[in-house]
Amino acid sequence: MDLAGKNIVLGLTGGIACYKAAEFTRAMIKAGASVQVVMTSAAMHFITPVTMQGLSGKPVFTDQWDARIGNNMPHIDLTRDADVIVIAPCSADFISKLAHGACDDLLSTLCVARPATVPLLVAPAMNVEMWQNPATQRNLAQLLADDIQLLGPDAGEQACGEVGMGRMLEANQLLEEVIASFQPKLLKGKRLLLTAGPTFEPIDPVRGITNLSSGKMGYAVARAAYEAGAEVTLVSGPTALAAPYGVRRIGVQTAQQMHDIVMAQLAGADSRTDVFVAVAAVADWRVANASAQKLKKNADGSAPELVFEQNPDILATVAALPKPPYCVGFAAESENLLQYGEVKRIRKNVPLLVGNIGHDTFGKDDNQLVLFDADGHTSLPRAGKQQLARQLIAAIASRLT
Ligand SMILES: Cc1cc2nc3c(=O)[nH]c(=O)nc-3n(C[C@H](O)[C@H](O)[C@H](O)COP(=O)(O)O)c2cc1C
Repeated sequence: MDLAGKNIVLGLTGGIACYKAAEFTRAMIKAGASVQVVMTSAAMHFITPVTMQGLSGKPVFTDQWDARIGNNMPHIDLTRDADVIVIAPCSADFISKLAHGACDDLLSTLCVARPATVPLLVAPAMNVEMWQNPATQRNLAQLLADDIQLLGPDAGEQACGEVGMGRMLEANQLLEEVIASFQPKLLKGKRLLLTAGPTFEPIDPVRGITNLSSGKMGYAVARAAYEAGAEVTLVSGPTALAAPYGVRRIGVQTAQQMHDIVMAQLAGADSRTDVFVAVAAVADWRVANASAQKLKKNADGSAPELVFEQNPDILATVAALPKPPYCVGFAAESENLLQYGEVKRIRKNVPLLVGNIGHDTFGKDDNQLVLFDADGHTSLPRAGKQQLARQLIAAIASRLT
């Protein structure tokens, strides 16, 4: 319930992407928000107020002369207890109106009349030529200068059949952005690199050794870092998870590949990384004699002889760099967490180590963490992984100088 108690005014303007606003409304309601829909008259050509009322559970407002509000001023009253206004989809026309402070219908007047403390988020949706038009680009620059936040757009196939920039974000991406807008920007301007998921060490072309890490904890940390305003690169072993919106993901399979990508990210010309978080459950060993062909059963019933060699220790290698980023390690233990956690932090030479119990976290949606640093340890009690990830990001931000 990431939006519990939040009052959201959702404005719809005239575009095909109005169909996504229905799903977006449902998603916000599911996340605990109360949603007040306001539509332009063009928007009503694309989706009906009936649908939006049915999904939001509230009468929809479309007209500034609507007398249902006591003082007959919906353009004032509808935003007075709003936490945020989101325009999705936002047409090229409405972007132009916002840039110029137009007040010729309910939605535009409501935006201009909103209290200065109510943020305005805008999700553009339009044909690629409309998006690239210099007038639209001028208007968008004005919106940014006026502290109006843009959500997307994305590039891709468009309803008109053309391809390019201007697609509205999907409902789940919009939801993530709205949730992010409520998080404090504790890592604004920082770059964070992290690893997540299991690794997979081949035995032959079709078999390998892996572990039960689902990647959920690492992906939650990546999302929390993006919510906190960081630029996030996620180096991920094989998982079934979608990349969190706004996070750059690089997929790898083996521990060696994960090591090589991490070191390349840290060594690049444009390489300033402020924080490295090693969440991945990296295999300690790989199969030294992996077969190039699929192994066959032996006629005498004997099993193949596998020879193991140690993988590089990614966290220790990063921590040993001449100018390391702030390093945070994760340790999954099966018992004696308090004892092993502190020993591991010192052995890996990192300022912060996060301990968790492997069988209590792998694949689960909740977890509990213990943070070890030079001053001792702090417990973060059992909670959803996203909530814990936000607490961890706050703990990391407070330790950055
Ligand atoms: C079928 C159709 C689809 C349209 N799709 C879009 C769109 O995706 N984005 C956009 O900016 N305008 C689109 N338009 C144009 C807008 O609906 C038009 O500019 C309208 O005046 C916008 O009004 P509003 O900003 O008050 O909602 C479309 C028009 C039609 C007829």
